[in-house]
Amino acid sequence: MKFKHSLMSDNFTKSDMYEVKKFINHKNITLTQSKKVKEFEKKWSRWLGVKYSVFVNSGSSANYITILALKIINKNKIKNEIIVPTLTWVSDINSVIMNGFKPVFVDINFSNLSMNVEEILKKISKKTLAVFITHAQGFNGLNNKLLQVLKKKKIHLIEDVSESHGATFNGKRLGNYGLISNFSFYYAHHLTTIEGGMVCTNSKEIYEIVKILRSHGMLREANNKKFERKLISKYKYLSPKFIFMYPSLNFRNNEIGAVIGINQLKSLNKNNLLRTRNFKLFLKLLDPNKFFKEFDIVGSSNYAFPVILKTKDFKKRDLFEKKLLKNAIEFRRGNAGGGNQLRQPYIKNIVKNINLKNFKKVNHVHFFGYYIGNYPSLNKNKITLICKILNNVKI
Ligand SMILES: Cc1ncc(COP(=O)(O)O)c(C=O)c1O
Repeated sequence: MKFKHSLMSDNFTKSDMYEVKKFINHKNITLTQSKKVKEFEKKWSRWLGVKYSVFVNSGSSANYITILALKIINKNKIKNEIIVPTLTWVSDINSVIMNGFKPVFVDINFSNLSMNVEEILKKISKKTLAVFITHAQGFNGLNNKLLQVLKKKKIHLIEDVSESHGATFNGKRLGNYGLISNFSFYYAHHLTTIEGGMVCTNSKEIYEIVKILRSHGMLREANNKKFERKLISKYKYLSPKFIFMYPSLNFRNNEIGAVIGINQLKSLNKNNLLRTRNFKLFLKLLDPNKFFKEFDIVGSSNYAFPVILKTKDFKKRDLFEKKLLKNAIEFRRGNAGGGNQLRQPYIKNIVKNINLKNFKKVNHVHFFGYYIGNYPSLNKNKITLICKILNNVKI
């Protein structure tokens, strides 16, 4: 068989299909959000170590309703800025913009592809409501100093863990440190429900708001009877089952997604260990003269190998891409989300007077950084062959 290395393989398993078939063969099942969704949320919360989780239809939806919830609880209207990374998925930025906040951008570190903490600290102002961190490509982006300052200044931490399921900081899973944390279960990630996402929190207030936001802004979704009774008597002219609290849309997932999630969760830890084993071997074999290898891998949980070229020569880069294409190694340039968000057309009329020269590291990753697939079934021989191909390129 011809050599090929895709971004993801076997992520939706035979066992997932078996569970789906078993589920849909039951009599009188509810297919939309019901018991299985609740079961998945409970099991996910237990796995992560948080009190509450809300299953939604994508990681982007998780981002959006997280920032909308933040807007709802924010009583200090002066605080209208959210600090965001330049290297992240587009929905992390758009959820901020679409909810009327100003995104304040920060450059990254090469060692973890996350926001540079010293730069975050410099950009904190009286207007800062939150820091919305992305733990990029399996790496932990937190440190003690950041957590201490945010606590002292009463600035919310929001974590996007979509690319780092199972990664830890100080021995605790990422997603436990923020007021709210987000996960994507898109097909390419560590755990998939094909499409899907999760919003997690320890705050009962936020949990109830997020449940309302997930379903059109509908009051009864909060399942807080006391609160519901109070509002029903306040809004006597409304049908009690149709009280809409906040402007929202339908972000629900369904029972089949939850059945897949419950099944996938059983092998998540085992699969993450295999992915970490693969990543360590990959790093060991990669040529340090050609590729950046000095990653901070403590607590990391990799799902895609980062391949960052040391060269700054565009001709060499093009040669490198040609070689990957020739050898059927699927890749994405720009690492997480296609590189520097500040270079994207959608941002042009929103964030003005940005000097791209102030974002040197993300600029390098934008033009010379890649990721290629890392999945549990990858074996030693294949990783060795991939590294041989990469190391042989004349860059
Ligand atoms: C960091 C991050 N946040 C959010 C998302 C969006 O997730 P989804 O594709 O499920 O909408 C992604 C997608 O890959 C991501 O990498």
